[in-house]
Amino acid sequence: MLKFDFSLAFKENIGTGPTYEEILERADIALGALNKVIDNQPGFIRILGTEEYIEEVQKYASWFSSFENIVVLGIGGSALGNIALHKSLKPINWNSPNFDREGKARVFVVDNIDPEFVDAVLSKIDLSKTLFNIISKSGTTAEAMANYLIVRGMLDKSGLASAEHLLFTTDPEKGVLRVIAEREGIRTLTIPRDVGGRFSVLTPVGLASAFAEGIDIKALHRGAKKGLERYKNQKASENPLVLNALLHLDAMNSGKRISVMMPYSNRLYLLADWYRQLWAESLGKKFDKDGKEIFAGQTPVKALGAVDQHSQIQLYNEGPKDKIITFLRLETFSVDFEIPALHNDIEALSYLGGKALSTLLNSEQYGTALALAKNGVPSLTITFPELNEENVGEFILYYELLTATMGELLRINPYDQPGVELGKKITYGLMGRKGYEGFLKDYINDNWR
Ligand code: PA5
Repeated sequence: MLKFDFSLAFKENIGTGPTYEEILERADIALGALNKVIDNQPGFIRILGTEEYIEEVQKYASWFSSFENIVVLGIGGSALGNIALHKSLKPINWNSPNFDREGKARVFVVDNIDPEFVDAVLSKIDLSKTLFNIISKSGTTAEAMANYLIVRGMLDKSGLASAEHLLFTTDPEKGVLRVIAEREGIRTLTIPRDVGGRFSVLTPVGLASAFAEGIDIKALHRGAKKGLERYKNQKASENPLVLNALLHLDAMNSGKRISVMMPYSNRLYLLADWYRQLWAESLGKKFDKDGKEIFAGQTPVKALGAVDQHSQIQLYNEGPKDKIITFLRLETFSVDFEIPALHNDIEALSYLGGKALSTLLNSEQYGTALALAKNGVPSLTITFPELNEENVGEFILYYELLTATMGELLRINPYDQPGVELGKKITYGLMGRKGYEGFLKDYINDNWR
């Protein structure tokens, strides 16, 4: 179960910002928003009430086990959840050639169209031992589809039975991937209609590659379900979801338009990347529900402890007071080092001797939080007692629910992303897609070419 400590976000301890009492004055409003989200049963909550999607993935168990590599082709919500699960729940060197994976797959996520990046994965894998999981809810996303076409070209040329190396994870009925799958007998997984990309990690989108590399996907769901019960039932004054929502709302309203997530663990680091998308794409909205211009949102930033203490922390402490920080920390690491007691006559080194490396790391986290507090910069700390499926599942649900609750409090729709459409359409025009020529005329001045 995750642990929360928000004490360094209140005026009582940092000398600025809202007091605990002031935050509590609005606790019932935030609890009401949370309950409204839950009562509306958005897809990311509904899927926790059924085994359907877990079973859908598990039915491919023996097929998955025949591959050494699973390569995910997708972008945004169709990739970041896979990366977050892989990085947080598998050892750091899982994909290394000599790592003993006990027959489980390596997982690569190709979520960009940088040719050098694509080549770095495709040139290093044996196609005959690889399954490509093409994930796209719409089936029209240019990046995912371009990479699919490249892979498809390679498979078709290789003489392998292409369909045996392809899995399409997509809308249950619509879209070009569905059409191709039906035509060619390619296996599929479902992205439920009522779950948007960035809320889909606990659907087959994230579960398939996780399952293939040996992550306990039932425990992921279990952690999320326990989290839901916990946040639903905890009274407002102690509810970490309610308090977090109100602290971030207060931050936004008082000019703190940057939300930093700073894990003190390499394995937790890319959970912050997943969070960045969720927070940015869900809450960054021009209009409220009544169509009034409000320019809502907060810019999410990720930083890594202790590395960024030697980079970002100077700015966070002494730069503009426009940030609220969320630290992630890990209590128990799967391995640790006792720092050898050497050079005992040199005071600058001797204090380290005999201490665990993780103690140094976590002391640095606490030291950084206290220093920020001294400078009037609010921070929240979320602790993972250990890195396991239940805790990661709870974390995912916590942030999905928090984001949706923030959407309710800000009176915006957290589930759409109209702001990404125009750039896509202009790109279609640039790439010569039929019907999009007009976007070029409208937006490109001849002098810019
Ligand atoms: O959160 C979202 O909805 C987006 O980030 C999508 O996941 C992303 O644009 C990819 O879309 P699709 O799965 O349709 O290819």
